Amino acid sequence: MKLERILQNQGFGSRRQCRQLVELGEVRIGGEIIDNPGAEIATAGLVFEVEGEAWTYRDKTYLALYKPSGYECSHEPKHHRGVYSLLPHQLVARNVQSVGRLDVDTTGLLLFSDDGAFIHNLSSPKKHVPKIYRAELAEDGSDILIKRLLAGVDLIDEPLPVPALTARLLGPRTLEMSVDLGKYHVVKRMIAAAGNHVEQLHRSGFGGLNLGEGCLAGLAEGEWVYLEAADLQQLHPAA
Ligand code: URA
Repeated sequence: MKLERILQNQGFGSRRQCRQLVELGEVRIGGEIIDNPGAEIATAGLVFEVEGEAWTYRDKTYLALYKPSGYECSHEPKHHRGVYSLLPHQLVARNVQSVGRLDVDTTGLLLFSDDGAFIHNLSSPKKHVPKIYRAELAEDGSDILIKRLLAGVDLIDEPLPVPALTARLLGPRTLEMSVDLGKYHVVKRMIAAAGNHVEQLHRSGFGGLNLGEGCLAGLAEGEWVYLEAADLQQLHPAA
C-alpha cells in the first residue's frame, strides 16, 4: 500500500497532510526516513514512526479504556468531557466507537473499535455477552434482593422480566451482578425495581475480559490499551 494511504487510514490526517508529513521527513520505517509518499510498503507486521512516535499498522483497531467518572460516552458531549478525549486523536480520526455506553458517573471497562461488525456482535442481545458490574447500594443488600434480581425484574419497555445472570453480595452494601442486556441505565433500573438504589456503579468485566487481569492488569482510570487477537478471543469465553 502507498505510504500516504497507510498514514491516512491509520488516522494521521487527510491525504494531503499525510503526504506532507512524509515529504517533511517525519516518517521512518526501520529507523530510515522514507520521504516518498508513493512508496509501496507491505502492511503485514509494519511498525512505522511518525514524528518520533512508533505505531503498529492495524487494519482494524480494538481498545479497552478504564473509564473514569465524569466522562460522557459521546463524540459531542454536552455537560462533561467526552471519553474520546482520553484517546489519541489518530484513533478518534479512525472513527473508533464505544461498544455500548456507560453512564457519565459509571466507572470501568469500556471497549472501542472501528470494526462495525465487532461492535454489532458484542452489542447484539442475541450474543449474550455478560457484563459484570459492582454496585454500591444506598441500603444494605439482602437475600431477597439477590433472589429478585436472579428471578428477573419488570422494566418499562421490556416485554419480559429481566434477570441478572449472576448476583451476589460482596459486602453489606456492595453488590456484584452480571447482565447480558445492554439497555439504557439497565443495572440501576434493575436494582431500583428490586427495591434498592445504586449510589455508585463500576463495570469490572466484559465477556471474559476483567479489569486488573491479563492484558488489563495495571490499567489505571483514564488509561487505555490495545486489545490483541488473543484478548479478543477472551470476550467470548464460551466460544
Ligand atoms: N447500567 C447502568 O445503569 N448504567 C451503566 O452505566 C451501565 C449499565
